[in-house]
Amino acid sequence: MVNHYGEQTASGHLHVPSESKEPYPADVLEQLSTDAEAVIARYPQRRSALLPLLHLVQSIDGYVTGRGIDFCASALGLTTAEVSGVATFYTQYKRHPNGDYTVGVCTNTLCAVMGGDAIWETVSEHLGIGHDETTEDGKITLERIECNAACDYAPVVMTNWEFFDNQTPDSTVQLVDDLRSGAPVAPTRGPSRVCTFKQVSRVLAGFPDGLADEGVGAGTASLRGVELARREGWTAPDSGDATPDAAPTNDASTEGTATGEQTSVDTPANEPDERPTSDGKEGQA
Ligand code: FES
Repeated sequence: MVNHYGEQTASGHLHVPSESKEPYPADVLEQLSTDAEAVIARYPQRRSALLPLLHLVQSIDGYVTGRGIDFCASALGLTTAEVSGVATFYTQYKRHPNGDYTVGVCTNTLCAVMGGDAIWETVSEHLGIGHDETTEDGKITLERIECNAACDYAPVVMTNWEFFDNQTPDSTVQLVDDLRSGAPVAPTRGPSRVCTFKQVSRVLAGFPDGLADEGVGAGTASLRGVELARREGWTAPDSGDATPDAAPTNDASTEGTATGEQTSVDTPANEPDERPTSDGKEGQA
């Protein structure tokens, strides 16, 4: 599709617009440089600050621009190819102008069967855009997303990484309509409002907005398991003092596992120099 947000290919990526390579105005560059140095000072090596600096660029430009890549490379002593290689690897870094709100519909397995696929089809048709595309008014970028570890509230929709639990096609259409009209929108959990993509990007760059601990984090569904365990008196086996019921036995299923040591954390699954043998079985070099 073609709009003032650029020419998007079928995969949602586009040719970097020429204006994205125009230098920053002097006042913007001065503030950007000050903020960047504050971020870089948190790391023992300058190059380690690349991920937050890319978020900082997005907090100003709304995506990773050509000038943003140049700035990061210059600030960190990297090549533009190195910066681009990172920026194009992670999906949180946008390669074309993002909408004010990224609306992500989880279509991973559990959400999909609980209604995520129906939500996706309805909201995509309602907005007239597909994955990684943005509405003409620049308000909504729509994405299919993978599991957000919120399966207990499936189907889940994320808006700028805030949770909207137990959604339906109708509630999601209402959500995007409210976002586009500027009506107040509150996530199901967490803070009382949804920040814009640029505001959230500044937080991800390492400049807190004070909302991180606002509202409920783990809700009733997330806590159901721990409440059941408390009611029944269940506890996790201690590695040095396993109870008789929980202790592993020396049968074939636990061969090689010391009593009380039941995780792969304690015993590496493979030796560092382990190689497959010629007959296809695992062996040690
Ligand atoms: S499958 Fe959607 S949050 Fe896990």
